[in-house]
Amino acid sequence: MIQVLFVCLGNICRSPLAEAIFSDLLREKGLNKLVSCNSAGTAGYHIGENPNPRTIDTARKNSIPINHKGRQFASGDFNNFHYVIVMDSSNLRDVLYKGGERGKNVFLMRYFDPSDRNSEVPDPYYGGQSGFDNVFDILSRSCEGLLKYIETHHNLNEH
Ligand code: 4NP
Repeated sequence: MIQVLFVCLGNICRSPLAEAIFSDLLREKGLNKLVSCNSAGTAGYHIGENPNPRTIDTARKNSIPINHKGRQFASGDFNNFHYVIVMDSSNLRDVLYKGGERGKNVFLMRYFDPSDRNSEVPDPYYGGQSGFDNVFDILSRSCEGLLKYIETHHNLNEH
């Protein structure tokens, strides 16, 4: 099983939404027996909490099931996850500080966004619903790109 971990700061907005979108995509493509995912935050503020209510609303209005409890990223996660996908450069710095190698098992999410491969997934926490809608669109494109990358690198197209 190829394991993917999405990482943001609080693990209540961006990374649980990425987890929900990517899980939905894996089910849709019939790849959920070969690839799985989870999410975590670099901070410990929201351990054990549900995603933010605006995150849940955003998933539900796009018909994506969402179910996650906040957990904090730890260096041991590098043993369990083949890919650690971070949302912004501050997450990248925090994760690389704990190990991992950029471009090998650690990537910025928007590296997989064909519309803008050099940007970050902006933190929507202090903004309004439009910020969440924007994050949803970015994550949807990036999840498609990430899955294509994994399919290519692990020859999953033959299954
Ligand atoms: P996230 O957003 O990293 O996308 O989950 C945030 C959630 C909580 C906080 C900051 C960002 N916070 O400061 O509690």
